[in-house]
Amino acid sequence: MTQPKYKVMFVCLGNICRSPLAKALFEKHVKDNGLDHLVHADSAGTSGHHTGENADSRTLQNARENGLIFKHSAKKFTLDHFEQFDLIVVMDDSNAQNVKSLSTNTQHHEKVHLMRKWDSQQTGMEVPDPWYGGPEGFEDVYQILNRSTAGLLRELSLR
Ligand code: 4NP
Repeated sequence: MTQPKYKVMFVCLGNICRSPLAKALFEKHVKDNGLDHLVHADSAGTSGHHTGENADSRTLQNARENGLIFKHSAKKFTLDHFEQFDLIVVMDDSNAQNVKSLSTNTQHHEKVHLMRKWDSQQTGMEVPDPWYGGPEGFEDVYQILNRSTAGLLRELSLR
């Protein structure tokens, strides 16, 4: 019998900057480690404001400069995702509050963790929102997410 995949949902506010990149970087680490058959990833936003949109052009450009190309269509995080995913990885405290406000179920709440819990160079616990800043903010987010998603996969591989 094939083992069911471990399902990870990455969540930010708009689902066009941080969480789509987190998903793409996590999938890259998963593929590089030959673990595609064991892990599934997706991403969503707590706001439905950008539903159906591609990732932000600045996120895509920065990722391209780092050699990463990915496709995306934004969607909103829903109550169903708590049942469908094993782990809900949020970018900041506000995302955590927003997803938790959708459910009073403690098992749901226990699935919610901050992305930077797995950052090997912890200079803060939140992945900063790059939306209002310049290109250096997008590069900062890329480096944080690259380290954090690698750290997450390392922990999952050790289980
Ligand atoms: P994200 O960034 O949550 O990382 O996707 C943002 C995207 C859009 C907005 C804010 C943050 N916005 O205000 O539309």
